[in-house]
Amino acid sequence: MCRWYLLAAAFACVLGGSWGQIISWGSCPTVQVQQNFNIARYMGPWYEQKRYFAVFEAGMECVSAEYTLETGGVVKVNNTGYRRISGRYSSAIGDAIVEDPREPAKLGVRFSEYQPRGDYWVLSTDYDTYTVIWSCTPFARFFNTQFAWILTRNAQGVPDSKMAELYSLLDGYGIHTWKLLTTDQSPASCPM
Ligand SMILES: *[C@@H]1O[C@H](CO)[C@@H](O)[C@H](O)[C@H]1NC(C)=O
Repeated sequence: MCRWYLLAAAFACVLGGSWGQIISWGSCPTVQVQQNFNIARYMGPWYEQKRYFAVFEAGMECVSAEYTLETGGVVKVNNTGYRRISGRYSSAIGDAIVEDPREPAKLGVRFSEYQPRGDYWVLSTDYDTYTVIWSCTPFARFFNTQFAWILTRNAQGVPDSKMAELYSLLDGYGIHTWKLLTTDQSPASCPM
């Protein structure tokens, strides 16, 4: 009996620990996206500093993204990350589009043409130092899955005071910043 309880507790802990990172109760919070979003200024390299747990990024460090504006307004997405276990970098190539020209900061991204596009909403960016990206998908009426990322132009991030500002922006929308994981970008951990 006692053993059974232990097992159940361990199971709940594993589920809570992995899925709990990305699944929240209720409907998606209402947010404001970046006003007058300028997609051209947003292109180029970005370095991931913070992210929500995401299965496709599990174990990935030294994560960067390269955005390139192509003909027809399609953004080529090249996400690259390092896995210590394999000792190798790997890339995922996808594309993003502005789905409604009236809301240019709301992009849809996919990494396979057989996949539906996932939301990629730019909540706030100054184009030159930071961007805050967020995605929320409601499901089963009472739950939603969320992704959040904070990327910076400089691999070494932004000053702590700036990061605190970005956290309070997310907090203000009820987006849980305690769930954000820090991506290792230290030169010692990211072989060239
Ligand atoms: C993606 O970026 C990586 C790292 O910069 C680079 O090595 C790779 O060639 C790029 N892949 C494509 C298809 O652009």
